[in-house]
Amino acid sequence: MNNMPLKNSASRFGSVAKLFHWGIALLLIAMFMLGFIMVNTPLGMEKLIMYGRHKSLGVMVLVLMVLRLLWRLSNPVPHMPGHMSATQRFLAHASHFGLYVLVLAMPLSGWLMSSAAGLPVSVFGWFTLPIPIAPDKDMVHLFKGAHEYIAWTLLVLIALHITAALVHHFYYKDDVLLKMLPQRKSK
Ligand code: HEM
Repeated sequence: MNNMPLKNSASRFGSVAKLFHWGIALLLIAMFMLGFIMVNTPLGMEKLIMYGRHKSLGVMVLVLMVLRLLWRLSNPVPHMPGHMSATQRFLAHASHFGLYVLVLAMPLSGWLMSSAAGLPVSVFGWFTLPIPIAPDKDMVHLFKGAHEYIAWTLLVLIALHITAALVHHFYYKDDVLLKMLPQRKSK
């Protein structure tokens, strides 16, 4: 049987890290699509339903990101290939750090925006998040701007991340991308 370790090793990511990576990637695609579509939908029931789903899924991203961060801190991180220069290693670490910060900042700014508007955030009707700040129009404006600005910055960073993974795979022909893909069955 194929051996699929849950935890990371020095040479590859384990199945839990892969599940977090690809699960959150799929959720982010859904979140960006929903976000841009809902703000351009005329006011009505459909728009309100989309806002509700956007908020609920966004809170799921926040929870998964916190769990992912804890998992990462309690696991070894696979080594980068030996051919990478000190500058390339620094850029890789900085971009991964930036991705963590922005993916966490996305739902946090959304939660603060809704809270400042005095709108409690219900998560699929299962539970409601506390409102951490008092209603304030200026704050709504501030967090709305931050949410949009973070969204575009995150999209740029994600594009760079995907480009870097493809350059490693097709130009350097190393195992950076393969380490994050499901492991092939060995005979
Ligand atoms: C990873 C999580 C999230 C992503 C990627 C995301 C992404 C987006 C995007 C792309 C937009 C459209 C921005 C624009 O063009 O104006 C948007 C709007 C919005 N998001 Fe999020 N969002 C996330 C989480 C959340 C959460 C958790 C909440 C609330 C609890 C939230 C509340 C909102 C609201 C209220 C708007 C509409 C703002 C407006 O009316 O202009 N978002 N989001």
